[in-house]
Amino acid sequence: MNIEKRSVAPCRSINAEITVPGDKSISHRSIMFSSLAEGDTAISGFLTGEDNLATLNAFRAMGVEIEELDGGRLLVHGRGLYGLREAADVIDCGNSGTTMRLMSGLLAGQKFFSVLSGDKYLRRRPMGRVTAPLAQMGAVIHGREGGKCAPLAIVGSALGGITYTSPVASAQVKSALLLAGLYADGKTTVYEPHLSRDHSERMLRHFGVQVESFDGGVAIEGGQQLRARDLQVPGDISSAAFFMVAAAIVPGAQLLIKNVGVNPTRAGIIDIMRLMNADIALENEREMAGEPVADILVRGSDLRGVTIGGDMVPRAIDEFPVVAVAAACAAGTTVIRDARELRVKETDRIAAMAAVLETLGVTVTTADDGMTIHGCEQLRGGTVNSCGDHRIAMSAAIAALRAAEALEIEDTACTATSFPSFWETLTQISGSGE
Ligand code: S3P
Repeated sequence: MNIEKRSVAPCRSINAEITVPGDKSISHRSIMFSSLAEGDTAISGFLTGEDNLATLNAFRAMGVEIEELDGGRLLVHGRGLYGLREAADVIDCGNSGTTMRLMSGLLAGQKFFSVLSGDKYLRRRPMGRVTAPLAQMGAVIHGREGGKCAPLAIVGSALGGITYTSPVASAQVKSALLLAGLYADGKTTVYEPHLSRDHSERMLRHFGVQVESFDGGVAIEGGQQLRARDLQVPGDISSAAFFMVAAAIVPGAQLLIKNVGVNPTRAGIIDIMRLMNADIALENEREMAGEPVADILVRGSDLRGVTIGGDMVPRAIDEFPVVAVAAACAAGTTVIRDARELRVKETDRIAAMAAVLETLGVTVTTADDGMTIHGCEQLRGGTVNSCGDHRIAMSAAIAALRAAEALEIEDTACTATSFPSFWETLTQISGSGE
């Protein structure tokens, strides 16, 4: 195991302007959809984190030519809906749940055989949530524990549209079924308990596909062709969230984060932080390839505890580790509920964040679907472990900015999953993270 350990020192002031790397969810979809399109797509702002490189390599392995242009741009030579070819080996999805789940849907309707695997964390995560509805569409997918865990062996087959009501608000489930739906005979309809991120719907429309969105769900007709069209990936709000919280918890801080995606299905962190009394302004609001984008200005403020649950949860699902840090620095108590999904992310994020915050001297109680965090006057230093989860490592680093002494963070190489330049940006704003 790579135990790259880092020490993060407390920070007294922040006054900076930064950018964050491209959105992870949109970057995955940019490769997948442009590969299926007719024609060439130039992509700018693509995130070259490990998760997205897993997706990129998977499509190269299936015969898609992807060129690297100047300025970090990619040129994807789309092969059309039926132009992929069988990969010669197992497709390695690394740590990436999005790669594995979306590709399960995409590969289910091909005319070839595929095997998807990944690292030890991904092989433990639940895949039944996609393999079960895909089987209803006619997919033939074998996997460990009766198809519930990777590796997954997918025997491409003829699919038929279904109407499926997902028990979880998951964009990965919804997107896997939309991708399978492109290959299915007839219409595929997915209902979900709360609206999950809608990047697939927006990008499919960008590529000329008709996707119906209605209260409670989405629907797609099979057989629609995608037409190539250049796109820009905005900065990732899930990466910006670490620095939004950093600025909110450091007294007198002022931080401008430029060019961040603020899609309402992703921007729950802005609403949560504002509820907590954070001073956040959106500037220069605009649209890029169907996605809302803005510059985010955050100033330090006195945060207060809040209760978070219901449809706010899927809109901020990846931000709860750093929300827990904000809660630890807030006056009063924060209750997070309806967030059972946190138990099946890259690690069990409820348990992992409780362990980090307890080391920092914060009183935390956990529940099956969330946690209660009692705000603390002064965080302590110490040693914590990321459990191999990028967002736990980065959240711990943000908490360290408000600790009395340095915090040692073990197993930090995982930040390359979604935010390879995190430590440089942390140093830029605070002089910490050496
Ligand atoms: C993602 C959806 C979310 C999120 C993940 C990325 C996506 O997962 O946690 O980091 O790109 O569709 P779920 O769909 O499982 O909630």
